[in-house]
Amino acid sequence: MKKNYRIAPSILSADFARLGAEVKSVIEAGADWIHFDVMDNHYVPNLTFGPMICKALKPHAQTGAGVDVPIDVHLMVSPVDTLAASFADAGADLISFHPDASGHVHRSIQAIKSQGVKAGLVFNPAEPLDVLKWTLDEIDLILIMSVNPGFGGQSFIDSALRKIEQARKLIDASGRDIRLEVDGGIKTDNIRRVADAGADTFVAGSAIFGKPNYKAVIDQMRLALG
Ligand code: DX5
Ligand code: ZN
Repeated sequence: MKKNYRIAPSILSADFARLGAEVKSVIEAGADWIHFDVMDNHYVPNLTFGPMICKALKPHAQTGAGVDVPIDVHLMVSPVDTLAASFADAGADLISFHPDASGHVHRSIQAIKSQGVKAGLVFNPAEPLDVLKWTLDEIDLILIMSVNPGFGGQSFIDSALRKIEQARKLIDASGRDIRLEVDGGIKTDNIRRVADAGADTFVAGSAIFGKPNYKAVIDQMRLALG
């Protein structure tokens, strides 16, 4: 069966001086989601943007036909709950956080969902999936990091493929509708391998925003996905 793949360009690699225009152009180029990397210089050694920027970009995240393109917020912050609530207010459609950044993972998931937003858990390259044993019934998305979080433009870590396979098995066994997203080092020449391991949603920052023609890259990614 053909999977319902999603491509989620990360605006971490966009031109920050023209963010609204960048979001518009990448959506015109075929982006399914907008991936929004939030870094706090505490959980990760870098600092990006907060809920005010998300709110400002929300009206730009629409197709030409006026359909909302989901804003996929990836929180690399600790603590989690206050900022997650602010992002829900700012128009985020999905909010994912790192379980090791929250003192009470189950509570953080519930807090996000209580605002009508989809909730996801993110796993760093050396982090096991154990917490899913207790949370899989609650979440809408699993995000596997294939680089160490904090920066765009890093190389894909191959052991992520084994973790994607594990996560895919857990999702299939649960019978629930859970997205399996992968983040870091995804390019046109490795996206097929990542999909073969079981992923259905692909974050790509530098691969898309680092090239002059966003549509050419996204088209090539879709072609590789088949
Ligand atoms: C890293 C971020 C990623 C990053 C991916 O902490 O979570 O979303 O933007 O960038 P690329 O695609 O350049 O590896
Ligand atoms: Zn990310």
